[in-house]
Amino acid sequence: MSIEIPAGLEDLLVRFTVEVLRNQPRDPLDFAVQYFQRLNQNQNQNRGGGSSESLPSPTAARPGAVVSGTGQFERGPANRKRTPVAIRFTRRVSVSAETYNPDDEDEELREPRIVHPKTDEQRQRLQEACKHILLFKNLDAEQMSQVLDAMFERRVEVGELIIEQDDDGDNFYVIERGTFSIYMKVDGLERLVGTYNNRGSFGELALMYNTQRAATIITTSAGALWCLDRMTFRRIIVRNNAKKRKLYEAFVESVPLLESLQSVERMKVVDVLGCQTYSDGERIIAQGDSADCFYIVESGQVRIVLNKKGAETEIAVCSRGQYFGELALITNKPRAASAYAVGTVKCLVMDVQAFERLLGPCKDIMKRNIANYEEQLARLFERDVDGHTETAVLQPRLLSN
Ligand code: CMP
Repeated sequence: MSIEIPAGLEDLLVRFTVEVLRNQPRDPLDFAVQYFQRLNQNQNQNRGGGSSESLPSPTAARPGAVVSGTGQFERGPANRKRTPVAIRFTRRVSVSAETYNPDDEDEELREPRIVHPKTDEQRQRLQEACKHILLFKNLDAEQMSQVLDAMFERRVEVGELIIEQDDDGDNFYVIERGTFSIYMKVDGLERLVGTYNNRGSFGELALMYNTQRAATIITTSAGALWCLDRMTFRRIIVRNNAKKRKLYEAFVESVPLLESLQSVERMKVVDVLGCQTYSDGERIIAQGDSADCFYIVESGQVRIVLNKKGAETEIAVCSRGQYFGELALITNKPRAASAYAVGTVKCLVMDVQAFERLLGPCKDIMKRNIANYEEQLARLFERDVDGHTETAVLQPRLLSN
């Protein structure tokens, strides 16, 4: 006899079970009644106002949670759909980066481990999407496996409001596919400050620093996201960041480019850096590619190579404490040269959004160095023509940061 399992039943029961495990209610029956009533209310609202599949959030059953309004809203020239934000949390107390100690949050850290079952196909897609996520780069195998277990999929339609500025943070999001706009309020007006294009992640700041959302994120195409709940993010990523700070504190203090930053700002830089290792000869960036990362060399050497009409010329070598990959991010152009590892190389990598947000004070230094590039390239190729290239002399100056 074959019994057909109704579509969505498994997902419904898994989500409910996770909520029970998270909330540990004294009376599971009463909790179930409240949970499914809320779910029903949310679905009714969604049917009226949008296509989002909002479910009661982890804290929905806790005191202080209130249901927000729904409806359409205007944002700039285009009329975008605003999907209902099902639950708002009680406001979190903002914790500044310098005083934050994740070990203090014992209660939160004792939360049970969350597991969202996945098919093999889902797990494979998830692993692929997480491969380049910088915040996951420093996790050990066990931490990574816990993160993957806890993540759950969310399909999105065009025009969905994923995060609204000033809300409390619920999830961290990894993009599997889809495009997203980033808006921030500047002098009371919402401005488009960036986009995500089929890769990357967002929503880490409110969870890392216990602050309200710093930006609004809206989908500009249909897509898929993988979500990591706040508890697991704090238990694993934020705790790991505390270790990362200790590990890299001395190094980032020694990076000349970061000298103008205050120590709190430098720690924020460390929080978003991912450590990436490259083997001898491996290409780190490719000339002509679109750019989304910035690199600081932690160990080893990196050759910067320019391909001009098919001929490759080494134009610089970066070693410990030096940076590369900034030019395309600043000029908003494709990569102007390729970068290759010499021996085993470790780089600290930062994504373009963090680069924009955190390295503003260092941009003058970078721009000054960029101004030297052209002059030095001109000199380099002049000598090439004469057949007396002295790249070794030019290298240290070209990227002397
Ligand atoms: P969070 O504040 O949790 O939610 C909004 C997210 O937008 C934020 O985390 C970042 O992940 C992302 N974001 C992208 N660009 C910016 C920016 N310029 N300033 C702040 N947040 C940004």
